[in-house]
Amino acid sequence: MPRSKGGVVARRSHKKVLARAKGYFSRRKNVFRVAVQAVEKAEQYQYIGRKQKKRNFRSLWIQRINAGTRELGITYGRFINGLSKAGIELRASFRLRQQMSLEALEQETLAQVNAAADEAALEAVRVSALGKKGVISERMKALGGMSPEERKSFGAALNLLKDKVTEAIAARKSVLTRAALDARLVTEKVDITLPARHELRGTIHPVNQVWEEVVQIFGDLGFSVAEGPHIEDDFHNFDALNMPPEHPARQEHDTFYFNEKEDGTRMVLRTHTSPVQIRTMKSGAPPIRIIAPGRTFRSDSDMTHTPMFNQVEALVIDEATHMGHLKWVLHEFCKAFFEVDDVKMRFRASHFPFTEPSMEVDIQCSWKDGQVKIGEGESWLEILGSGMVHPNVIKACGLDPAKYQGFAFGMGIDRIAMLKYGIPDLRAFFDSDLRWLRHYGFKALNVPTLAGGLS
Ligand code: PHE
Repeated sequence: MPRSKGGVVARRSHKKVLARAKGYFSRRKNVFRVAVQAVEKAEQYQYIGRKQKKRNFRSLWIQRINAGTRELGITYGRFINGLSKAGIELRASFRLRQQMSLEALEQETLAQVNAAADEAALEAVRVSALGKKGVISERMKALGGMSPEERKSFGAALNLLKDKVTEAIAARKSVLTRAALDARLVTEKVDITLPARHELRGTIHPVNQVWEEVVQIFGDLGFSVAEGPHIEDDFHNFDALNMPPEHPARQEHDTFYFNEKEDGTRMVLRTHTSPVQIRTMKSGAPPIRIIAPGRTFRSDSDMTHTPMFNQVEALVIDEATHMGHLKWVLHEFCKAFFEVDDVKMRFRASHFPFTEPSMEVDIQCSWKDGQVKIGEGESWLEILGSGMVHPNVIKACGLDPAKYQGFAFGMGIDRIAMLKYGIPDLRAFFDSDLRWLRHYGFKALNVPTLAGGLS
C-alpha cells in the first residue's frame, strides 16, 4: 500500500479528488486513498454508460431517419450515402430532415383537414394534430430537448405550422357548418304550397243538413228563401191567417205568450212559419214563390214533440196557380229529398183555417226491423199540411183574391230529418249530446248540392 503524501502540492491534488468524491458515504468521501478509488471506478462506469447511451441514441436516430427517408421512397443507406457524397454532415442533415418532415406534416395535415367530410371527421383530424397527444403537440414537447438555436428555428417553424393548421381547421369548419345547414334547409323544407290538411272541428247538425238540402231543392225549382221574426204579433201569427180571436184553432196551438202590453196586445213565439206567408204577400207583389225555413214554438213536449222545432213553409201565389202545381212541386221535392226514383203520395182532405181546400200529405213507405224506407211498400207516413191559400188570407194581405190564387204548405224539418236519416227520438235533436252529434252529424265541408249529392 503506497504511503500517503503530505505537503502543499499533494494536498491540492487531494482536495480535487475529495471534492469529486462528495456525495459518497463515510470514508469514501473524506479519506483520500479510498476516495480516489471510488472516483476512479465511477468515472470508469460513467464512460461505459455514456458509450452505451451513445450507441442507443445512434440506433434511435437511424430508425427515425430510416422512417423519414422511406416516406420519401429511399432507403437509409442510400440517403446517408447521398449525404456524404454531397458533403453534408449528419447533424445538419438531421435538422434538414426535421424541416422536411414539417413540410410533409403540413401537407398531410392540411390535406386531411380539407378532406374531412363532416364536423366529426374534422374534429378527429384536429385531435390527431393539435390534441394533447397530437403530432404537432408531440413535436412541441420535443422542443425541450433541443439546443437553444435549434429550438429557435424549429420552434418557429412548428408554431407557424400550428397556426396554419388551426386556421385551416377553422376555415373548413365554417364550410362544413354552412354545408350542414344547407343540407338541413333542403331536407327539412316545408312545402307551404301543399294544401292544408283540414281539421274536423265539428259536424253539421242533422237539422241544418236537412235545412240546406231543402233550400237546395226548392232553389232549383225557382223558390227563394224568406224569413220572419221568431216573436210575432197576433195579426201575423193568427188574424191574417184567417184565425180571428174567437177561432177554436187558436186554442189548439199551445202558444207561448209574452206578457200583455199596455194596449192589451201580447206578442207570441210564432207557432208556425205561416206568418212569413203574410209578411211576404204584404211586402211584395205576385208572382210569389218562396220557402221559409225557421224555428217555431209550441208548449208541447213528448217523444215526437219539442217546445222548439223547425218548419219550412212554402208559398206560391200567381194568377193561375192551381193544385196540380202543388202536387207536382211536392212530388219533385219528395223524390229529390228522399233520393228515390219515385214515391207515391196521398192527399188526404184536412182542415187549416188559412187554406181551402186543405190537405195532409202522406208518402209511401215500408217498415223493416223498425227501420222506415221511403218510396216502397204499402205503408203511409204523414209529412206535411198543405192547401190552396184561403181568399181571406190573400185579402188580409191587401191582394185581390179574385185575381190571385196559390198554394202553401208547411213541413216539419226535424220530422223529415228523422225519416230520412232514421233517427228515432225527436228530443235528442236538441239535447246537445256530442256523442249523438258525432253519430248523426254531417261533415262540415260537405255542403249538400243537387249536382254533388244531397247527403
Ligand atoms: N202552418 C201549418 C202547421 O203549422 C202547416 C200548414 C202550412 C198547413 C201551410 C197548410 C199550409 O201545422
